[in-house]
Amino acid sequence: MRVLVSGGAGYVGSHVLLDLIAAGYDPIVVDDLSKGHAAAVPQGVPLAQVSLADAAALDRVFAQYKPQAVLHFAGFTEVGESVKFPDRFFRNNISNGMTLLDAMVAHEVKMLVFSSTAAVYGEPQTVPIPEDHPKSPTNPYGESKLFFEKILARYDAAYGLRSISLRYFNAAGAHPSGTIGEDHNPETHLIPIILQVALGMREQLAIFGTDYPTMDGTCVRDYVHVCDLAAAHILALRALEKGAPTDAFNLGNGQGFSVKEVLAAAEKVVGKSIPAQTAPRRAGDPAVLVAGSTRARELLGWQPRYADLHTIVETAWRWLQTHPAGYGEE
Ligand code: UFG
Repeated sequence: MRVLVSGGAGYVGSHVLLDLIAAGYDPIVVDDLSKGHAAAVPQGVPLAQVSLADAAALDRVFAQYKPQAVLHFAGFTEVGESVKFPDRFFRNNISNGMTLLDAMVAHEVKMLVFSSTAAVYGEPQTVPIPEDHPKSPTNPYGESKLFFEKILARYDAAYGLRSISLRYFNAAGAHPSGTIGEDHNPETHLIPIILQVALGMREQLAIFGTDYPTMDGTCVRDYVHVCDLAAAHILALRALEKGAPTDAFNLGNGQGFSVKEVLAAAEKVVGKSIPAQTAPRRAGDPAVLVAGSTRARELLGWQPRYADLHTIVETAWRWLQTHPAGYGEE
């Protein structure tokens, strides 16, 4: 089955491509390469360098490749940027996403898996967070993803386009082969930053806030391996093929680790101490974000294989050691 993958040259999308191929699907990537990397797309997978803002070009891609389903990863993801430039986030994540949906409607493509986020919840009232937790995003990024989920529900009611939204918690790690991994510019995520310090690419880690109401005062997050996220997309696609209704699922391991615990795990992986200093809180960081993901396990049959924090950090380390400049070095 032909599957169109928007944002397939990005971090999560590129890992999903490998699973799609292994599962016998036939992916075609649409990516404008503004954030993604052509080198992250496996050889033999067609890559259309097209922006989702370009309805005419998108229409040509749909006409040429005739996909039967879409996996939608393309979008901006950086929370801090979204506060500075909400216009960019709403335009790209909502308006351009709708251009993709309209192409799907025009070409009668009725199944979509959407890359959503824990940021739709905002500051949690209960932890672990269930899917029906109130949605009160604290930044334009989370708002853009939540609004797109609402749009998806309406497109189902109006046009019969069924979708599964997957709300990732903290995506981390890299493919165990060491061939693909995380390459953001600038990098803002905790694990790659810690490992860049270990590699001497940065002087030290700034720990954003040590006065949170957590066991050691630092923020707690639910780190989930990118390959486990990838596996969930294949399960979601299969569920849609079997007629599953429009739905949303949390993806996390249900276990939280503090910034200091992640640092300690990284020190074990790299075998040396990693310089860190305390810094003020980063605006908009909730103290604790941990997923309640029993629905994904029960309804999709999702079973994370790399839930262990050590393994998550180890795979990220393998990638960074061999690709210190990301894809730029290849
Ligand atoms: N952190 C530091 N120092 C750093 C970088 C991060 O202390 O240099 C801390 C953050 O304050 C946070 C934790 O490490 O407590 C994790 O931060 P990340 O930036 O790696 O991830 P976030 O939890 O901020 O963001 C993730 C996703 C977002 C998503 C969000 C949901 O990357 O896309 O979860 O709130 F929106």
